[in-house]
Amino acid sequence: MTEDSFIVKGGKPLKGDVFLSGAKNVSLKVIIASLLFDDPVYLDNIPHIADIQELLHLCKVLGCKAEFSQKNKLLIDGSGLKESTVDLLHGSKIRVSFMFFAPLLQRLGKAQIPNPGGCRIGARPIDRHIDMLKVFGIRVKYNSSTGFYDAALKGKIITAANYSFDKPTHTGTELAILLACRARGESVIKNAALEPEIDDLIGFLNKSGAKIKRNGKTIVISGVNAIESKSRVYKIMCDRNEAVTYAIFALATGGDIRILGLSGNMIAAFIDKARGAGAKVKIQENQMEFSLGKELRATKVLTEPHPGFMTDWQGPWAVLMTQAKGTSIIHETIFEGRFSYVEELAKLGAQIEFFDPGVKNPRKFYHFNWVHNQSLTEAPQAIKIYGGTKLHNGVLTVNDLRAGATVLVASAAASGRSVVQGASIIDRGYENVEEKLKILGADIRRI
Ligand code: EPU
Repeated sequence: MTEDSFIVKGGKPLKGDVFLSGAKNVSLKVIIASLLFDDPVYLDNIPHIADIQELLHLCKVLGCKAEFSQKNKLLIDGSGLKESTVDLLHGSKIRVSFMFFAPLLQRLGKAQIPNPGGCRIGARPIDRHIDMLKVFGIRVKYNSSTGFYDAALKGKIITAANYSFDKPTHTGTELAILLACRARGESVIKNAALEPEIDDLIGFLNKSGAKIKRNGKTIVISGVNAIESKSRVYKIMCDRNEAVTYAIFALATGGDIRILGLSGNMIAAFIDKARGAGAKVKIQENQMEFSLGKELRATKVLTEPHPGFMTDWQGPWAVLMTQAKGTSIIHETIFEGRFSYVEELAKLGAQIEFFDPGVKNPRKFYHFNWVHNQSLTEAPQAIKIYGGTKLHNGVLTVNDLRAGATVLVASAAASGRSVVQGASIIDRGYENVEEKLKILGADIRRI
């Protein structure tokens, strides 16, 4: 047992209400977008999670002001932005640090950004972003001796661009929007990603004077001279991944949890799959309630970009499927390394095996970059979960954020006392996780 662990005594149905926190994957981008503004920005519903702390530290090192006034209310003032280099140590810890390209280039004309980090769930290159930056008239090259990308504007300001992503990318689409919203002229982004988090970012910018229109996978952005908050407070949406995680806590422990702060259509693909598996789901305005029906049935899941079943949900779902009747399948198509939890669940008695899903053209089919010569047997992207297993306690290691949620759900569903090592990785994306679980009746303690 190490410090930085949770001790969870599982086997108890979790019941009650969960108030969702603000979405991590909106907060991070809205904070960076705030540095494009001409005046201070007031945000609400920003979660106190470790990734936000890292990001705020980066903003401060660049010369910006970032202060929580009340619990989840944050003031960001980018007027002091003067440094063009993102801190190596902290910048390489979080994936979104490359989104600083937009405010740094817009405000200072140059940017030095370390190779981005984030969860190790695949190679996670940023080749699509770099490609897109070049079309916006930005010179950018990677310096392998320093580990930094060096970027500079070719002209005085960012010029509008037409760009079509070969394969959609969530943060790539957001970076394109940030670059275009104060560029000279009209930009058109094609094959853009569809995640609702992107639309919340668009809503935030449009409320402040930006001119961004989405028509499905095409986004048209007319560059404007100024973006101003005029002291209005923008409240960001609640976290879809958190909602799904607690829904699975309810189902996997045989409990009943009401989730407040999000409407059902935001996680429609999950609700469909849960109902298909036999879960009872009650949906009301801005809230939903999850409990088990008579029988939990095996399912087939293919992870897809929005509006499909999200990659972030498949780990916790795998835990649930260990309890279902029959054999379930999960085929991951977004990231090539999202099965680190399989070894951990096996420690609790789960019966899971990798198999080759027989994809004909993996280079085209998968959303990650298919590496030449890599075979599906060397890099398996699908698992079979044999259901109906009673999970017992064990010592589990967290390897990435969503794998952390997965082992936490498993420890709550398993009998006996489990140790979850790597609590701080879960803190990167889940606000007050142990308090929220305790309210639901979980026996959880942090050491
Ligand atoms: N990709 C490339 N090159 C690029 C960009 C993406 O190869 O230049 C690959 C990625 O490695 C991945 C696939 O394309 O295999 C899709 O990546 P995408 O860019 O869509 O994902 P992301 O922006 O890196 C965001 C979220 C993820 C979430 C995915 C899918 C943030 C900070 N991260 O990642 O969230 O799973 O979209 O919706 O918004 C998490 O919160 O735990 C998390 C990983």
